[in-house]
Amino acid sequence: MLLTFLASALLVASSNAAPALPRRNVTTASERLGLTWLGANSTLPKILVLFTGGTISGGSIYGALDDTQYGQLSITGEDIIARNPYLLNNTQLAVSNWTTEDDGSTGTNDALVMNMTRFAYDALCSEDSDIVGAVYTHGTNSLEETAFLMDSLVNCGKPIVAVGSMRPWTHLSFDGDANFFDGVMLAASPEARNRGLMVAFNARIIPGYWVTKLHSTNPNAFGPTATGDLGLFVNSLPVFYNTPSQPLFKYYFNLSLVSSHPSYPALPKVDILYAAREFDGKLVLDAQANGAVGVVIAGTGNGGIPTGQDEIAEALETGLQVVVGTRSPFGPSSPSQVPTYAKSGLVHVIQARIMLQLAIASGMGMNQTIGLFEGGFRKAIGQPWTPGT
Ligand SMILES: *[C@@H]1O[C@H](CO)[C@@H](O)[C@H](O)[C@H]1NC(C)=O
Ligand SMILES: *[C@@H]1O[C@H](CO)[C@@H](O)[C@H](O)[C@H]1NC(C)=O
Ligand SMILES: *[C@@H]1O[C@H](CO)[C@@H](O)[C@H](O)[C@H]1NC(C)=O
Ligand SMILES: *[C@@H]1O[C@H](CO)[C@@H](O)[C@H](O)[C@H]1NC(C)=O
Ligand SMILES: *[C@@H]1O[C@H](CO)[C@@H](O)[C@H](O)[C@H]1NC(C)=O
Ligand SMILES: *[C@@H]1O[C@H](CO)[C@@H](O)[C@H](O)[C@H]1NC(C)=O
Ligand SMILES: *[C@@H]1O[C@H](CO)[C@@H](O)[C@H](O)[C@H]1NC(C)=O
Repeated sequence: MLLTFLASALLVASSNAAPALPRRNVTTASERLGLTWLGANSTLPKILVLFTGGTISGGSIYGALDDTQYGQLSITGEDIIARNPYLLNNTQLAVSNWTTEDDGSTGTNDALVMNMTRFAYDALCSEDSDIVGAVYTHGTNSLEETAFLMDSLVNCGKPIVAVGSMRPWTHLSFDGDANFFDGVMLAASPEARNRGLMVAFNARIIPGYWVTKLHSTNPNAFGPTATGDLGLFVNSLPVFYNTPSQPLFKYYFNLSLVSSHPSYPALPKVDILYAAREFDGKLVLDAQANGAVGVVIAGTGNGGIPTGQDEIAEALETGLQVVVGTRSPFGPSSPSQVPTYAKSGLVHVIQARIMLQLAIASGMGMNQTIGLFEGGFRKAIGQPWTPGT
């Protein structure tokens, strides 16, 4: 009785006190970041469009059959949105421009994609975020590198979807409009949460952690190096095969830690070398002399190095970090019993380069990097290893 009385007295007191509280200005991430939303219906989900360009924004002066020599003409993110009236009937979209003057298409660069990742993290993961998800357009040649990077750094459960096209918009069968729409619908779907970064391409939903470009010209260019697709698009709407899950060996790096390393304002220099018969170990030393602090070697088979072990040992002694993956498109580079460098496990070499960059930027040394790449894999195959101190 007394308790009930006290409780209701408190309720009265707090509701009486409420109007006296100072009124806080409530801003949203959109306002804070100066985003301009396209679309008239403010009840629709807000999807951020991170626009780096790519073939999806490229046109050709060589006619509607050309899908190799294009790039003389270009369109913006806003133009792509204006091409498709279905987009703004389903979502609100704001374009954030991340193109470069010199290379709107294939490459971008570490500094730019790191800036874009920080922007995406702020927009999606801040407490004041009013944004449901993001898509990024990208040149297909390095789309997977940005996918792995963002997937390793942005982890608040909101979807980021990579989109692009293999054919320019001047082509008679441009694939960009459909891929872009599919990607936006995927990012807007409540079912898309907690699945990591995804790629919407050729009516497929492919996991960003595993994705690689498997064909250099076909519109069905992408696929995973392990597992399968997460789902598909039917009527341009996402259909998932399974409930949300994440790769067991996936590691989330701390974005503010990676961003604050005094030596690496963007990301550390890590090169990839491709092994073959008569592999020249001096290439490793040359890379180091040229400023690389890490090297990823696409090894033969299960991460073999045919020749050049002496030079690798020499480079390791002077602080180079080495990760050896496989040049095979599928399958692991599995750990040695007594490691001196890391084997990449199931991480494909292109992605291993990004992971090594993030490891070094996080302050990890060679032994920690070995643990990072090999830890889960060693556990799975019952081959433990304890680094010295
Ligand atoms: C709230 O916003 C108004 C107008 O934008 C401004 O004049 C006022 O100082 C702000 N108050 C606080 C506490 O920030
Ligand atoms: C705005 O979108 C909502 C769905 O979120 C829909 O129910 C409503 O009809 C739309 N309004 C207009 C004017 O189209
Ligand atoms: C978009 O919505 C408007 C109003 O609801 C409707 O008239 C129009 O047909 C829709 N457009 C498309 C492409 O669905
Ligand atoms: C996007 O940025 C690039 C590079 O700064 C610039 O050339 C281009 O005009 C910008 N596009 C838009 C639509 O703002
Ligand atoms: C990245 O952001 C920093 C800080 O705002 C800026 O100085 C730098 O020019 C940006 N780099 C690129 C490539 O956008
Ligand atoms: C991330 O790193 C920053 C230092 O840069 C640290 O303050 C913060 O606690 C770290 N966050 C987590 C989740 O470890
Ligand atoms: C790395 O681990 C090995 C043992 O596996 C040890 O001999 C070596 O001292 C360690 N290096 C560092 C820098 O901790």
